[in-house]
Amino acid sequence: MQDLSTAGESIEDVARRQNGYAVHLAKINESNPVISTENILNSDGVLLVPEGTRISHDQTQNILKHKLLKPIEEQVVLENIISNDKILQNITSLLNSYPDMGQIHERLNFQTVLKEILGKISLNHVLAQKITVLSKQITHEYEKSLLVAWFSALIAKEHNEENSFIEESFVAGLFHDIGFLHISRDIVTKKGRYTASEWRTVQCHVVIGQLLLKGVGSKYSNASEAILEHHERCDGSGYPVGKTDSNLDIMGQIIGISDSILAVRINRFENQKRNMKDLMPYLHMNSETHFRSVYDSVCSVLKQSELSQTQINACGTTADLVASLKHRGSKLKNAVKLLMKLFVISELEKNCSSCGSLFKVSEPVMSMITSSGIVLDEIFQWLDTLEDDLVTGDTLAELIEMELMQEELYWQLSRVCRIIDEFTASSQNICSPDNQQEYMNISAAIKEILSEGKAPRLNFKYQKETSSKE
Ligand SMILES: [Fe+2]
Repeated sequence: MQDLSTAGESIEDVARRQNGYAVHLAKINESNPVISTENILNSDGVLLVPEGTRISHDQTQNILKHKLLKPIEEQVVLENIISNDKILQNITSLLNSYPDMGQIHERLNFQTVLKEILGKISLNHVLAQKITVLSKQITHEYEKSLLVAWFSALIAKEHNEENSFIEESFVAGLFHDIGFLHISRDIVTKKGRYTASEWRTVQCHVVIGQLLLKGVGSKYSNASEAILEHHERCDGSGYPVGKTDSNLDIMGQIIGISDSILAVRINRFENQKRNMKDLMPYLHMNSETHFRSVYDSVCSVLKQSELSQTQINACGTTADLVASLKHRGSKLKNAVKLLMKLFVISELEKNCSSCGSLFKVSEPVMSMITSSGIVLDEIFQWLDTLEDDLVTGDTLAELIEMELMQEELYWQLSRVCRIIDEFTASSQNICSPDNQQEYMNISAAIKEILSEGKAPRLNFKYQKETSSKE
């Protein structure tokens, strides 16, 4: 596929090469006119689309074959773009459909602040065009972006930031994943594992978003950097650079934590009756991955919301829950040994940048598992003592919390596997072939653990009160 990253190419170059946005425009044009406002030329000055033309499917196919002189979004106008009022209306509708988020909004009296933010921010025609295209083409991403914008602004306020910072956090949240519009849909919607090249291409969504906001001028310069950093983590395990806390700004970490929290709430809790307060075990485990003050602000918001943890037992009976915890816990114990091995090899190969990155990723996951305490012998002995009908109240709550922690750890392990696979497939990997083989063996062994320790399934649907799609 021509827009995949190639070995040795910088992520900025990959980002600039993504042209999937033209495909979205052509699709939208079928029902909503997209008109060229000037002659669209390729980089050699050859005319591809004359000014004043409604962009057709055939013209899009032609555009896709060329490098354009200017980004296409600056050369077209889209009718019926989304207004700030519509964004406010859509957020309100979403908060109504997710009652726990609605409760947070209400208890923290955020209605007035949100209205003020939408009254103040001004999106130029390119930003308004992009968010409109996102809403029509990838509706679930649009809805998540609205919620990330809302929650980021709320956290920024709780963090005692100034109004201008809160407004910019909202904008950064709104556009944090806009880069996905430019990446081929085949990659964005792919089920299953990405190849190393596809994963590198996915990563460039942060650079595309950064460049978009940078193009607006100095007004949103903080938001632009925050979008670039929203997948960076304080422990160095993030991307695209693997920066650590001393090189990161607050806003990027606010967007990052909001994005992670809402991804768990919307995707992992999708078919469950779990709410935002059930995210507490997840937050505790990730307390070192974002700035401590940001983590504290999120905890404070959840506390003020007066939501209660739901105590949903994913296994149905307590006996099944205990059996699942023991089974999955023993698998995690094996995973620690594998991570330890990975950690030792990657530490020895410090001259290899890929190994250095692997070290930064494996070490926090290993310490997350060990510091959680859920692989301690005492915990297994305690689980052995539990009898189904005697387990209630706080003990049941502890078991459910353990299940959520295990779930997060399994997710973290799958992330480690993905990164190992990316590195072992990379031609930039300069560590010894023996170690590369060892990495592949570790990845295969972790994948076996992941498949043997699948999460218990819940049998009910989360009850959204109304459809959030309009
Ligand atoms: Fe993202």
